[in-house]
Parts: sequence; C-alpha cells; structure tokens
Amino acid sequence: MAAREVAALTFLAAVCLLCAAPAAAWSSSTTAHRHSLAFTAPEAASHAPGMHIVISMYQEDIMQVQQYLQRLLSIHSVAATRPRIFLYVKGGPEFFARARELSFAHEIHEVPNIGREQETYLRHVVAHYERLPQHALPNYEENMLSRLQTLFGPRTGAMGLGLTAVCTCEGHSQLWPEWGAGGFIRLREVWALAQGTLCPHEFACFHNGFLVASRARLHLQTKKLYEYLLGLFTTSADHPLRVNEFLYKHHTSNIPEEWPTFGHVMERSWNALLNCTDVNIAYSCSAVCEQEDCTGLEHCQCLDEGSPHDGVAPI
Ligand SMILES: *[C@@H]1O[C@H](CO)[C@@H](O)[C@H](O)[C@H]1NC(C)=O
Repeated sequence: MAAREVAALTFLAAVCLLCAAPAAAWSSSTTAHRHSLAFTAPEAASHAPGMHIVISMYQEDIMQVQQYLQRLLSIHSVAATRPRIFLYVKGGPEFFARARELSFAHEIHEVPNIGREQETYLRHVVAHYERLPQHALPNYEENMLSRLQTLFGPRTGAMGLGLTAVCTCEGHSQLWPEWGAGGFIRLREVWALAQGTLCPHEFACFHNGFLVASRARLHLQTKKLYEYLLGLFTTSADHPLRVNEFLYKHHTSNIPEEWPTFGHVMERSWNALLNCTDVNIAYSCSAVCEQEDCTGLEHCQCLDEGSPHDGVAPI
C-alpha cells in the first residue's frame, strides 16, 4: 500500500512543478455556509460574510490570474459563499496599476516583495483575525479546483489544495526524495509553538502551503502567534536569529541555497497551526480527484464539528 501511494505522490509532484512553478498565490476563502437554511443570523452578523480568496501575485500575467479566478468562481460551492477577492501585488507599481485597471478584486493591496505567498497569507490572517469569514483558502493551481469541486463543504476545516504529503520534522517528504533531510530546522519549533508539543516523527503536510481553512481552525492559534511568524519574514540583518541561526538558510541539506527557507517552513507549518496532521489525510489524498475516488468528504481534509444539518451532503 505504501509503495503505491509514494508513487502516486511523486507523480503529482512532477505534474505540479509544471503547472505552478512561478505562481505565488494564496486564496483565502470563506464560506458563509452555502446551505443558508442551516445558517443562523447571529453568527453571520458577527463575522465577515463570504469566503476570502486571497491571492498573492508577483509579476504573473494578470489576465491569467483573472481567468483562474473565473474558473474558481464557477465552482458552485465557492460561488455560493459570495466570496471576496483580495489581491496582494508584490511585483511593483506597474503590476499593481495593471491589476487595478482590471479591477476584478474587491481589495487590491500593493505590498513589498517579501516572503512570497506565505507572508501574504499570514499578513491577511493578522489583518482580518477578528472578522475572519467562515473559510479561507490559499492557492492558484489546477489541482485546487478539482478538490474544491468535489470535497469542499461547510464542514471543511483544513484541506490541502496542492500537494499533500507525509513530512518529517525536518521538512523531508516523499515528494522531494532527491533533497536530503535537515533542510528546515525551524519547522520543529513552529510545530512546538502551534501544538504545544514536540514534533513527532512525521505528520501530514500540505507541502506547498495551498489550502482552504475554516475560521474555527485559524482561530486555534492566537493572533499574537500569527504576528510573530509574520515578523520573522522581516527581521533585521543584525537580528540574533539571522546572526546565529539558520532561519533563512537550509542546513545540512542539498536544497538549493536560493530557495526561501522560512517560506518553506511556513508552507509545511499550516497543518500544525490548523491541527490537521494525521498522516492518513495524506494517504487518502494521493492523487487529484479525477484520478482516484475522492468522493468521501474525509479524504484530503480535516472536518470541523457540525451537525448533519450543516450540509455535509455532496457539493
Ligand atoms: C487537535 O486534533 C486532535 C485529533 O483530531 C484532537 O483530539 C484535539 O482535540 C484537537 N485539538 C484542538 C485544540 O482542537
């Protein structure tokens, strides 16, 4: 069983290297329960309505981003939440101006080119912490769309939309067999901050940090912790973490020097932050949904508590 799954996961990694190489996007979407009959007004009133789709872009073709969003919004379960689109542009004034011209987002922010999409996701969670919508979703690749189509629902707590793997506390996984272990020494520490325990041998990880998360899951952590993690992207050059430690460098590993170390740590830390770490999540999510039976809602995701009336039914 394990051998077959490893093969499938490796195949998926190859596919995604082709489809998402330069993309830097996170969509944080919030579903204000599509099944409106089950949704009570008091809860809706105290939180932002509609899924947040958070997109972090650098200098990607803005038309492609728009086309991607159109496909995303054509998914019934997503559209039914009346999502709000947040675009964070890191590619400079020219790309910001172009994005404003097209004006398909509800909010557009020009932000410094720091920390790729992971910095953006943390930035968004910190900015909206008190009024998070029901769901937040990060990503920008094709696999995400099929998983949203088949598996996303009101009880979705945390679901990987890109690669879902079994990671070790050093960030090693079967998806990157060619890179030695030991590349992500801070992953262990972020785990400890998030879970309050030492990092176990291995856990399910969303590998490239593309996921949909519910407000309930995001609120498992304090705003202070998200702020702290966000701050790590911008520590000054003389900060002790930079001077003495390997926060921004891969350590005892053959992972390329220029890869963003802390960004990679963050990509693999959402599972601990959102308490969705059971390796079975990864084993039941070894391929995109067209290729395997993904009809069970428990596949690929952690569900939040909820009664049957919350609309766990097929999407
Ligand atoms: C985290 O998940 C585990 C396993 O599903 C569960 O037993 C535990 O109560 C969860 N912790 C929190 C804080 O929700």
